[in-house]
Amino acid sequence: MDQADDRDRRRASDVNPNRPSIARVYDLFLGGKDNYEVDRYVYQQVLKVAPEAPEVTRANRRWLGEAVERMAREAAIDQFLDLGSGLPTNENTHEVAQRCNPKATVVYLDNDPTAISHGLALLADERYVHFAAGDLGEPEAVLADPVIANALDRRGPPGSSWGCRCTTSWRPSRRARSSPRTWTRSRPAPTWRSPT
Ligand SMILES: C[S@@+](CC[C@H](N)C(=O)[O-])C[C@H]1O[C@@H](n2cnc3c(N)ncnc32)[C@H](O)[C@@H]1O
Repeated sequence: MDQADDRDRRRASDVNPNRPSIARVYDLFLGGKDNYEVDRYVYQQVLKVAPEAPEVTRANRRWLGEAVERMAREAAIDQFLDLGSGLPTNENTHEVAQRCNPKATVVYLDNDPTAISHGLALLADERYVHFAAGDLGEPEAVLADPVIANALDRRGPPGSSWGCRCTTSWRPSRRARSSPRTWTRSRPAPTWRSPT
């Protein structure tokens, strides 16, 4: 299924190999291979001041998996919005959620061109998994995005609910004066939230 619209494809083509990307650097900490020299330079600089960073990153990833699994298994959450999803790696939100419920719907969102490009490619054939390019600092625009609006039933049938996980490694742009609290105030509110 082709879920990408022209806007998302254009953003995916904005990959700049001369500018470090937090998505690629984070992926590097997880042992990923999709990075450029400029990312490896940042990685080395971080290691100098925080040699524990790779372990912290892996722990964050494990925690993400556990949080999603608990939402899906214990709370029967069947819709997930993964904000600041990063590059696809192992134990992605949809893989964890769909082990519990093969029909769990997951929408990923990121604003990094490399994450967008990889996300669109990985998910092209997935039925219950979607990717949207967007800025999590603009919750209203994100929730109005057609990919997200079509994929997530925000009212939900009885017993259905939606979870939301959100990365905190972002800074609101000057234009977007919102904060993570805006997400918690969005109506109807996500049933469960899992900030990292
Ligand atoms: C540290 S990575 C986290 C990846 C993944 N969520 C995890 O926990 O393993 C942060 C991700 O948030 C994305 N990000 C940062 N600011 C963002 C923003 N304003 N809107 C959308 N995505 C953003 C980055 O591009 C990056 O992929």
